[in-house]
Amino acid sequence: MLISGTGTNLQALIDAPDIDVGCVVSSRGDAAGLARAVAAGIPSLATQDEDETTAFLAAHGTELVVLAGYMRILSAAFVERWSGRILNVHPALLPAFPGAHAVEDAVAHGVKLTGVTVHLIDAAHVAADTGPIVMQEALAVSYDDTAAEVTERLHRIEHRLLPEAVRLYGAGKIQIDGRRVRVSG
Ligand code: GRF
Repeated sequence: MLISGTGTNLQALIDAPDIDVGCVVSSRGDAAGLARAVAAGIPSLATQDEDETTAFLAAHGTELVVLAGYMRILSAAFVERWSGRILNVHPALLPAFPGAHAVEDAVAHGVKLTGVTVHLIDAAHVAADTGPIVMQEALAVSYDDTAAEVTERLHRIEHRLLPEAVRLYGAGKIQIDGRRVRVSG
């Protein structure tokens, strides 16, 4: 799993009894998520170096790379190396509101509906928050909702949706068909 921040999605995967988080790489040494990995006894590494990241993931027998709040753009070589095996979680209904400020952007835009997207990253979609969509769940937004409130509600959805996507991947139920993804079961 690749993180840069608080790691609440990492925690959701750690807490899922049927999911094995093999290792964690953080692009920041001070990420709170690193402490979660250490507390759970999961091998972890803080680095911004992609070769080191790849070597660490490979050494731990990684089958699926999960990005949650990972604030670095991956190179085409990295994405090719793990082609079809990189999942990302994003706090908006892509392709609306990509980028690092998705919730604030959506609220400022006045949308009445936003949500969570879990998507794959493939070699043709190296830019942030693109790639074939695996799952989405919508959330209603009211005029009085603040970005902080919407973020909290989206997090609750993420913590359910991301483990579910990992389970579907593990069960071989995710098939990529160009930009589209067939999710069976
Ligand atoms: C999540 O909202 C995710 O959608 C976004 O970054 C945030 C990471 O949160 N890409 P956390 O570190 O898992 O708490």
